[in-house]
Amino acid sequence: MSIKVLIVFGSSKGRTGRIAEILSDALTAKGLTTVLKNVFEARPKELLDYRYIVLGSSTYGQGDLQRDFLDFERGMDDLDLTGIKAAIFGSGNSRYAYYAEAVDILEAKVKIQGARLILPSFRQDMMMESPDGEEVLQWTQELADTIHAGSDIK
Ligand SMILES: Cc1cc2nc3c(=O)[nH]c(=O)nc-3n(C[C@H](O)[C@H](O)[C@H](O)COP(=O)(O)O)c2cc1C
Repeated sequence: MSIKVLIVFGSSKGRTGRIAEILSDALTAKGLTTVLKNVFEARPKELLDYRYIVLGSSTYGQGDLQRDFLDFERGMDDLDLTGIKAAIFGSGNSRYAYYAEAVDILEAKVKIQGARLILPSFRQDMMMESPDGEEVLQWTQELADTIHAGSDIK
């Protein structure tokens, strides 16, 4: 049976959404089954239905999560994510003091709730990189390899 990966993203102008789409397509091409959801149509409890979760948010305000992600992140407070493997990504702009801090927020959150991060997170700097850039594909490759390497645990 194919391994299922849930990807949840929050995106105001579509950049993180585009990364999420590329990620989903690339993981599918590598034999994984992906479920791609905009955070506003996802419920935190859905995370419990997957062994692999990938969360992505852009950064706004003073290094805050993308707007739609705020409630979802709070809704994760009561979840026990023990045994779940997580990866985090986000788009930001290095011109800001709190560069891509949403990624740090989500990293801390999944860890506090008991999940394990399976690879270093991906931060895309919109100052230098395009959502369609090579870096996304490289990270996806690493993610797919890491998932396949651990695929004995179904
Ligand atoms: C009002 C505003 C505030 C922002 N604040 C930050 C910030 O604190 N840190 C950061 O890395 N990027 C910041 N950004 C840049 C966005 O995160 C960046 O444009 C990102 O690519 C948007 O992705 P999205 O379309 O998925 O929402 C800000 C952008 C705007 C318009």
